[in-house]
Amino acid sequence: MKEELNKIKLACVQEIENAREVNGLEEVRVKYLGKKGELTLILRNMGNVSAEERPLIGKMVNETREEIEKELTTKKAKLEEEAILKSLENAKKIDFSIPAEDTLGSLHPITVVQREIEEIFKSMGFTVEEGFEVESEYNNFEAVNVPKYHPARDMQDTFWLENGELLKTHTSAAQNRIMRKYNGPLKAIFPGRCFRNEDLDASHENTFFQLEGMMIDKDISVSNLIYFMKIMLSEVFGKEVNVRLRPGYFPFVEPGFELDASCMYCGGKGCKVCKNSGWIELCPCGLIHPKVLEMGGINPDEYSGFAFGLGLARLAMMKYSITDIRLLNSGDLRFLKPIGLN
Ligand code: PHE
Repeated sequence: MKEELNKIKLACVQEIENAREVNGLEEVRVKYLGKKGELTLILRNMGNVSAEERPLIGKMVNETREEIEKELTTKKAKLEEEAILKSLENAKKIDFSIPAEDTLGSLHPITVVQREIEEIFKSMGFTVEEGFEVESEYNNFEAVNVPKYHPARDMQDTFWLENGELLKTHTSAAQNRIMRKYNGPLKAIFPGRCFRNEDLDASHENTFFQLEGMMIDKDISVSNLIYFMKIMLSEVFGKEVNVRLRPGYFPFVEPGFELDASCMYCGGKGCKVCKNSGWIELCPCGLIHPKVLEMGGINPDEYSGFAFGLGLARLAMMKYSITDIRLLNSGDLRFLKPIGLN
C-alpha cells in the first residue's frame, strides 16, 4: 500500500510540475483529490483493509494528501506570479505615444436639447435666467401659492438642508425672484437642475432638468401660450407639431393645463410611442395665478402671464429615443454612441 501511495504521489507531483496554467492545475487536483480522485478511491476502499492496518493506512493517505495539497498551493502561487509578470511584459509593448481615436466626447443630450431651446426662445425675445439649486422654502413653495400645509406639497417631496433650505423641486422656484427683477412685463426662460425624493425607475429620477418659461405683459392669454409652445416644439422636432390643452392642476396657475403635442413619430395617426392616441403628454402650463403675480410685486389687475415647465429629460429621451431616464445621470458613456452623440 505504501508503495502504491508513493507511486500516486510521484505521478501527481510530476503532473503538477508539468502544469502550465492554473486551470491545468485544477484538473490535476480533481484527478487525485476530487470526489472520484485516485487518492479518494483508496480511502473509499478501506473496507478491504484489516482493522489493524486501517489507522496506519489512513494516516499515510492523509499525509500524502497534505503533501499533494502543499505542492498544488506552491505551484499555483508560482503560476499566478508568472501570469502577472507576463501581462506586465505585454503592457510594456503598449505605445502610449500613439494618438487616441474617438475620445473627443460630446455634449450631454440634455445640454444639447437645452441649448437648442434656449436659442429658439432667445430668437423670440426671451431672456435666459439663472436659477439656484438650493432654494428657500418660500421661493420653492409659498411664493408659488403652495402654503405650508397644502396637500400639493406631497407631490414634490424633496431633500431638506439642516438650515431649513431645500434642493429645489421645480424651476418654478425662480419665478418670484425673476418677477421682482423685472417688476413688470417680461419674457424669460430659466433652465435648471431639480430634485425630488423619488423612487427610481425607467421614468423617474431624483435629479432631473426642467426648463421653465414665463411671459408677463398686458392681455396675455392662453393663445399666446399655445403660439409659443407650438413654435418651440416644431423647431425642436423639425416638423409642424400641433398642440392641445387638457385641464391640469397646479396651485400656481389658473387655469392650469397639461399640454399634449401631436405625436412626432406617426404625425397623429396613432403608434406605439403615443399608445395609439396620436398625442404625447409634454408639459404642464397655465396662466400665472394672480396671487403669484402679486407676491412677485406685479399688479394682477394690470398684467397677466403664462408659465410652462418643460421636462428636459422627457424631451431629450423623445428626441434621441432613450428608453431609461437613469442613463442620463449614469456617467456611462456607452449610451451616447447609438444615439449618434459620440
Ligand atoms: N412646476 C411644475 C412642476 O414641476 C410645472 C409647471 C410649471 C406647471 C409652470 C405649470 C406652470 O411640476
